[in-house]
Amino acid sequence: MEIRAVDTTLQTWSGDGLVLGMFSGELSQQLQDLDRERLGGTLQELIAEQKFKGEVNTAVAGRVGGNSAIKKVMLLGLGDPAKTNTDTWRKAAAQAVKWGNQSKCKSLAFSLPAFNEDGEITAQILTEGILLASHQDKRFKSKPKEGENNNEPTLEGIELLESSAQAAIDRARIICDGVILARELVSAPANVVTPQKLAETAQGIAQTYPDRFRLEILEREQCQALGMGAFLGVSQASDLPPKFIHLTYSQGENPTKIAIVGKGLTFDSGGLNLKTGGSGIEMMKIDMAGAAATLGCAHTIGALAPQNIEVHFIIAACENMISGKAIHPGDILTASNGKTIEVNNTDAEGRLTLADALVFADRLEPKAIVDLATLTGACIVALGEGIGGLWSTEDELAQKLEQSAKAAGEKFWRMPLEESYFEGMKSPIADYKNAGGRYGGAITAALFLKQFVEKTTAWAHLDVAGPVWTEKDAGYNNAGGTGYPVRTLVNWVLSMAQ
Ligand code: BES
Ligand code: MN
Ligand code: ZN
Repeated sequence: MEIRAVDTTLQTWSGDGLVLGMFSGELSQQLQDLDRERLGGTLQELIAEQKFKGEVNTAVAGRVGGNSAIKKVMLLGLGDPAKTNTDTWRKAAAQAVKWGNQSKCKSLAFSLPAFNEDGEITAQILTEGILLASHQDKRFKSKPKEGENNNEPTLEGIELLESSAQAAIDRARIICDGVILARELVSAPANVVTPQKLAETAQGIAQTYPDRFRLEILEREQCQALGMGAFLGVSQASDLPPKFIHLTYSQGENPTKIAIVGKGLTFDSGGLNLKTGGSGIEMMKIDMAGAAATLGCAHTIGALAPQNIEVHFIIAACENMISGKAIHPGDILTASNGKTIEVNNTDAEGRLTLADALVFADRLEPKAIVDLATLTGACIVALGEGIGGLWSTEDELAQKLEQSAKAAGEKFWRMPLEESYFEGMKSPIADYKNAGGRYGGAITAALFLKQFVEKTTAWAHLDVAGPVWTEKDAGYNNAGGTGYPVRTLVNWVLSMAQ
């Protein structure tokens, strides 16, 4: 899909579909004039017929009569101007793309009110909405026979009228490439996305920008030598070898060093505490969504090439399986910082892999560490499927992440590191247990991770179990992996580069 900023105006554009926007209330004078002069009153007709008020997430669309140079028109509601956010524009753009394809348009032109004074932002968020809504994952469908499928998208190009923000459009495309990389890693099944495949994806990124990245893949023996007993314990029942991925981006003379650590369970069967009926075992290919977003972010950062930043992308990738080699519930594992863990539940495996990954990150002495993980069902119970949990030992880091998320249109809610809850994670026989009691499960998981960040004062944990997947098409996400929270991570990295 080509997206271009053009200086063509509403008065002169002609083509298949014109996409306009209005805030709640009356049609602007400019659009009233356009309607009279070029659209034969189609807008006013649609508005009257549908009692359209410009409310958010609503739209009217129709064919322009006569032999108008504009064939079809869509009017998107943007709601109360005081209540909009960047997602208002992304979702509006997504609606327009769907309409454009359904009504068999090849070309669309967008002329929407700006999000703010910065025309670059408007172009960026419209482009994100367009590209993310257009992404259809057909990798695992057989090819339709010639002439069999007439539902193929028709849109070839979109023009943003009276815009000079081509640079912002191109930037948004680079961001969407990272989001789509993450989506496709999450949506692919566990027999395709293996630990090896995650390692190869990191290698692909490193090879694309060899002067910006260094890549180190630690094999099982090397992890053993580093004492990563928690990570290796989780991996030991799988026939697939674990891969510890350490991808480093670095640019500039004296860069700020940060680390991003993603949970990379390419399948989580639960282990001997097997996920039973109704627990969603068939969904557990998504348990590497933290790793997917980590790689999506790396991909985008590599292409944007920000200066004065060094980002360590770290993934302890493996599968949680069952076999005669599996860890038994009750086994005691020793993590690479020497701490011992009684595995009272083999299904609380993510935190075991992250323990060693966090110790590794911590030893690099970064200014900040952010980990992200599909860590707990409890976080979905607490916040629902649309909002991720955010825990942080430092307010400044939490605020930076919250700002990054807001600009990205990705929702997070800050949660407490309630130390007293850690009492339930102490083991009579080892230092810790890996699973606490029934309540506050997302918090106890976060507190467990915190034990493995010893030197870095700015650490944040993102529990992304809910928002990384959607069952149905919604807004600019289509059913499958959503690529959440790649855009937040990218914004955060860029903010740390300043
Ligand atoms: N990968 C799961 C968490 C999960 C659940 C992710 C649903 C996405 C959707 C994690 O490894 C897990 O099994 N957590 C357990 C922890 C419990 C055993 C303490 C859970 O949430 O039930
Ligand atoms: Mn699990
Ligand atoms: Zn898991």
